[in-house]
Amino acid sequence: MQSRHLIDLSDLSVAEWEEITSLACDIRENIDSYYGACRGKILATLFYEPSTRTQMSFQTAMLRLGGRIIGFDNPANSSVAKGESLKDTIRVVSGYSDIIVMRHPVAGAAKAASLYSRVPIINAGDGGHLHPTQTLTDLVTLRHEKGTFSGLCIGLCGDLKNGRTVHSLIKALAGFPGNSFVLVSTPYLQVPGYIKDFLSAAGAPWQEVDNLADAMPLLDILYMTRIQRERFASEEEYMSQRGVYVLDSAKMSMAKKDLIVLHPLPRVDEISVDVDDDPRAKYFEQTEYGLYARMALIMKMVKASDKQLCPLPTGVDIQCSNPNCITYSETYIPHIFRKKGDILVCDYCEERTLL
Ligand code: NCD
Repeated sequence: MQSRHLIDLSDLSVAEWEEITSLACDIRENIDSYYGACRGKILATLFYEPSTRTQMSFQTAMLRLGGRIIGFDNPANSSVAKGESLKDTIRVVSGYSDIIVMRHPVAGAAKAASLYSRVPIINAGDGGHLHPTQTLTDLVTLRHEKGTFSGLCIGLCGDLKNGRTVHSLIKALAGFPGNSFVLVSTPYLQVPGYIKDFLSAAGAPWQEVDNLADAMPLLDILYMTRIQRERFASEEEYMSQRGVYVLDSAKMSMAKKDLIVLHPLPRVDEISVDVDDDPRAKYFEQTEYGLYARMALIMKMVKASDKQLCPLPTGVDIQCSNPNCITYSETYIPHIFRKKGDILVCDYCEERTLL
């Protein structure tokens, strides 16, 4: 593996994505034959934010591989409630486990945790930033339901600003030939600047529109997302954006016969229930592919693990411009950036800071 941790999908090579998605397909066909692949290993799930599918699919994945699980799904029941730092929690749990899956409300938290962990960290969502294992799930779904990752017109609709699944999926699919993107959102909920930069650098055609019905006939994939209420500064702001996009059977009738509709779930009101019976709706199948994707990922990462703490990088005395970056809440972590011309890109949250 390129890296011991999975913070962004780019920590794995495209060949490794292929390897994991093809292993996931084999697991789907022969799940019982994988029991015992992680015998004696322990997976820790540290969920600082609510989760149903991600947490339970990781836990089921480890149990189906014959390993065991520890962890918390509510930080209020752990020493986090007593004020323990992320660094201390991770050092302790990495002494107890062989691999850690972590979800946190703050962008860059998984990257920060990886600096203090002796075992691989898997990012199961860091604030509104990234969610790479949902993207692996989406890739396994595409492999089964479309048979390709290339030559697709991909529509993403809803909260493209705060939807971490959207950011990871765009970063993954922009690299495949012939893909184009239709980004359907209100002006307020458009994708962040770093994602637009990524699309442009990848040379993938993309457009921003605000009307879902107009986009429907163009699409091979429609990726619906909920408006991320918990990421809004105020209830008023959320109320002004909720309910704007609803996929219903009238809109489905405008789409291609071989469109597939995906959604990371949970759904609130953005897909009406009458769409569930349309054979093009694949979001419940998608949740099952997530189990196979995570079994494949755990097998690969546990095998590569060697229980070592890497040397801490040296930081600089510059503050990231994003107040939601982990460097604001865990103040001891080194501030690290990549330089792009006269812009510094934060290594934790990817926000840009002018020099
Ligand atoms: C997503 C998440 O947590 O980002 N859910 C998931 O992991 N399947 C999407 C969401 O919460 O809207």
